[in-house]
Amino acid sequence: MAAVGGTTGVKISPSVMACDFLRLADEVASVEAGGADMLHLDIMDGRFVPNITFGFPIIEAVRRTTSLPLEAHLMIIEPDRYVREFARAGADVITVHAEACPHLDRTLAEIRESGAKAGVALNPATPLCAIEEALPLVEFITVMTVNPGFGGQGFIERCVDKVRRLATIVAGRGIEIQVDGGIGVATAAVAVAAGATILAAGSSVFGPADRKAAIEALRRAAHGLDPCSQP
Ligand code: DX5
Ligand code: ZN
Repeated sequence: MAAVGGTTGVKISPSVMACDFLRLADEVASVEAGGADMLHLDIMDGRFVPNITFGFPIIEAVRRTTSLPLEAHLMIIEPDRYVREFARAGADVITVHAEACPHLDRTLAEIRESGAKAGVALNPATPLCAIEEALPLVEFITVMTVNPGFGGQGFIERCVDKVRRLATIVAGRGIEIQVDGGIGVATAAVAVAAGATILAAGSSVFGPADRKAAIEALRRAAHGLDPCSQP
């Protein structure tokens, strides 16, 4: 399995959903060469969210073309049914939604048994207490900063305080805090200042032609080095 991370500081995880699928290998190569730390694969089933993206063949294809760590962000109902298959397809991190998992403890244990790292995501209206008892089982927590289902949506500002509170709760536990949705230069700065350690970003990375510049701009903003990032 590829190591997750590799650079110190905030990690940038481009969301493949925003790329040109006709040129998948080139698109992945462009963000890998541009300094991405991980790749974010948004799996939607048309049930948990009102959109359908892609499944195992695309994950396998991405796995074959890059050594970057892959996160499968499962926006699907009954994710337990497919955990092993996502791990087999090449996901290094498997993130499930707390809202989709009535037996979250069991689901997270299954992810760990599959050999992947376990992540849990929370929709904007889901309180942090929904995962409080599961903290010993997770290595990644995703605070959704949009309602999941589509790329290119506006960042929900009130989620910043949730990131701040979560950072206090998980301090010292070695848990990564990811923000996902509407992340660009300005929102990256705010999210990282609140405690985010991973930025999942679709349109702000794959939108511009120069992916390296886009990733570097996010990284500068994350580290407070870009005056344009101040809200
Ligand atoms: C939203 C997805 C996000 C999305 C991010 O449901 O989970 O990962 O692709 O896209 P942007 O960065 O365009 O909001
Ligand atoms: Zn996502």
